Amino acid sequence: MKVLISFYSRTGVTRTVAGDMRDILIGKGMECEIEDLLDKKNRDGKMGYLIAGKDALTEKRTEIGDVKHEPKDYDLVILGTPVWAGKMTPALRTYTETRKGQFQRTAFFCTHGGGGESKTFDNIKDTCGRTPESTLSLKDKDVAEKKHLAELKKFVDSL
Ligand SMILES: Cc1cc2nc3c(=O)[nH]c(=O)nc-3n(C[C@H](O)[C@H](O)[C@H](O)COP(=O)(O)O)c2cc1C
Repeated sequence: MKVLISFYSRTGVTRTVAGDMRDILIGKGMECEIEDLLDKKNRDGKMGYLIAGKDALTEKRTEIGDVKHEPKDYDLVILGTPVWAGKMTPALRTYTETRKGQFQRTAFFCTHGGGGESKTFDNIKDTCGRTPESTLSLKDKDVAEKKHLAELKKFVDSL
């Protein structure tokens, strides 16, 4: 099975989860590529944070960097995002909305400071046009403390 993990990460938490996920999938003998989406808008500092929250809340798209892997070429695409203002990030939204209908099987994951996964997963489902086969929601603190690995393995096993 060819698997693609496409995600956005501003501060590295979601990227850590994506990397761990890839290692587990490869360990299970699957072919797995990573698409680390680049948001070209400056999201640094206090202003960057505030605008990021507003852009997510108002469901804005953004300019993303060149995409190397297209979802149509993969049996399963795992989509990941941090929760911003209870929603998915503009970078992942841009990627999924512009490729709606091109996804075969999907699964979703998100990282957050405390919650907001349900609306975030609804956002991803609406924008990519597919219901996920499985979802995984992880707290940023748990990822920092490496407490997420057992739950992550369970998620991968469910695919
Ligand atoms: C603009 C912004 C808005 C956020 N909004 C929420 C939120 O609504 N709920 C929540 O639990 N965490 C929220 N967070 C925290 C992030 O979701 C969390 O720290 C995440 O793991 C960061 O992932 P990353 O390091 O991959 O960027 C927000 C972070 C940012 C930057």
